[in-house]
Amino acid sequence: MWVYLNNQFVEDDQAKVSIFDRGFLFGDGIFETLRIYKGQPLFLDRHLQRLHHSCEALALILSTPEPAWEMLLHELVERNHLEHALVRITISRGVGGLGPDPTGCLAPTIVIFPRPLPQLTKDQREQGVSIAIVNTRRQPSCALPTQVKSLNYLNNILAKQEAVKAQAFDGLMLNTDGHLAECTTSNIFFVKDQCLYTPSLQCGILPGITREIVLELATAKGMVVQEGTYEPKDLLDADEGFLTNTGFGILPVSKIDSRQLKSAKQGTETQIIQLLYESHIAKSC
Ligand SMILES: Cc1ncc(COP(=O)(O)O)c(C=O)c1O
Repeated sequence: MWVYLNNQFVEDDQAKVSIFDRGFLFGDGIFETLRIYKGQPLFLDRHLQRLHHSCEALALILSTPEPAWEMLLHELVERNHLEHALVRITISRGVGGLGPDPTGCLAPTIVIFPRPLPQLTKDQREQGVSIAIVNTRRQPSCALPTQVKSLNYLNNILAKQEAVKAQAFDGLMLNTDGHLAECTTSNIFFVKDQCLYTPSLQCGILPGITREIVLELATAKGMVVQEGTYEPKDLLDADEGFLTNTGFGILPVSKIDSRQLKSAKQGTETQIIQLLYESHIAKSC
């Protein structure tokens, strides 16, 4: 596999990063995961915008001139003959300073590598997955801005470990006020009486790109859409639920904490959103 590391493409087994890199030492950096669809990077502008926001929030300064992202992604796609895949862009603050102070650390480490799309069963895609409401709370944005796709995923890892223990597909975190936040790598939506609900960004969630697109598509379709503050009971009382993420797109939720949602199978509104999303992807390339 060819990967990009600091200005050059190398074979993955030749890609070496220093043990003094702050990404390794402290999780000091950010990342983006985007989808390659028919050999093209999907929603590249939105991913680059989030990448820049993440860097700005951490005062992580990219080299000048900035990498020509689009060209690099095309080269990565060509070298690895990618048709449908994910690509992860990782930017760490680089080597420098063994304590928290990053002053003077001005040479970020940039890595880009491809990975396969998540392998889900037909049953998971069509009938839905189970999620567990975990005890680990989503860290509040006053502690670490949740809009930053930070390299430090310990909060999510702890939540995922709980979910695995509960034999759930994923863990749904509440925020510190006890309101619904998000899963470890996806945003959540639920449907009640044909209205679509999702936690607002103020609930301390990552502004997911798939979430943003779903909101736009549903609104354009004339669906009633509400972003707000919701309790676990709102979700447990929902007719349908689904998760959104760049890798799997729209994934129905059938069970929450082993409680079956009303429409245990993929619900009607979820199906509509899935179709809208898939046709939007096809048109975007
Ligand atoms: C915590 C979290 N929430 C939501 C998402 C979904 O974001 P996107 O739709 O941009 O993939 C992710 C993606 O990795 C995530 O890590």
